[in-house]
Amino acid sequence: MEERPTSVWSSTRFWRKSAGWVTGVSAVLLIWLSVDTVAQISMSTSAELDAKQPMRVPPATVINHKITYEYDAKRGHEIPIIGEKESFFGRSDYSDEEAAALLRHGKLTVQAKNCMSCHTLLGNGGYFAPDLTKAWLDPAWSDAGPYMAMTGTQTREEAMAKFLMKPSTFPTHARRMPELGITEDEAKAVVAFLKHMASIDTNGFPRNFAKINGGVNAK
Ligand code: HEC
Repeated sequence: MEERPTSVWSSTRFWRKSAGWVTGVSAVLLIWLSVDTVAQISMSTSAELDAKQPMRVPPATVINHKITYEYDAKRGHEIPIIGEKESFFGRSDYSDEEAAALLRHGKLTVQAKNCMSCHTLLGNGGYFAPDLTKAWLDPAWSDAGPYMAMTGTQTREEAMAKFLMKPSTFPTHARRMPELGITEDEAKAVVAFLKHMASIDTNGFPRNFAKINGGVNAK
């Protein structure tokens, strides 16, 4: 009897080999992407910041600097621009250790008070309240916005801290933020945490933040 030729598509050997190659190539690609991502999301150092090197995640000491948000025509979205020294709660000389401790306290407060049950941070969290990734740059906190007058303060950071300590006193939306019993120290730390977050180059995320807020330019 004549043997029927088998096609490559029904050959077990062919499929075994293909599976091996696909798994191997994907593993190499994933490892390479992981290494690349870790490099991209690691905090830069203060020395790199002082040398004005381009960076995605600035060091904690970025809180000593003015941050603006400007349209980059080549990239097609806004990017944070780290400017000159700027006073933050009366100082612009926070050391690496002080700034890192402040950010850590802020992060722990954000976790302890579960802000992410209502808000999103870098896209993670609840959809009840605004994304906080760029909240620091919201013109509502600038001297052109309503909060400074409402809170009786002279600076963006003081306005934010006062709001966080007693949000129900300063209603701006139909949805109100509840009182979370945040102390003054915690409020300052949370504002530092939010200022640092706003300095992260998130490839324009959240999309259209600047347009929603009428062209952010936190000058
Ligand atoms: C129960 C839901 C809820 C929780 C929990 C909550 N918020 Fe809010 N938050 C809101 C709502 C609603 C608004 C909008 C109200 C307004 O602007 O008056 C808001 C507004 C804000 C704003 C102003 C947003 C902007 O873009 O300018 C900031 C900043 C903020 N919250 C920070 C926080 C932080 C930090 C925490 C945790 C310590 C927190 N929120 C926890 C509901 C919440």
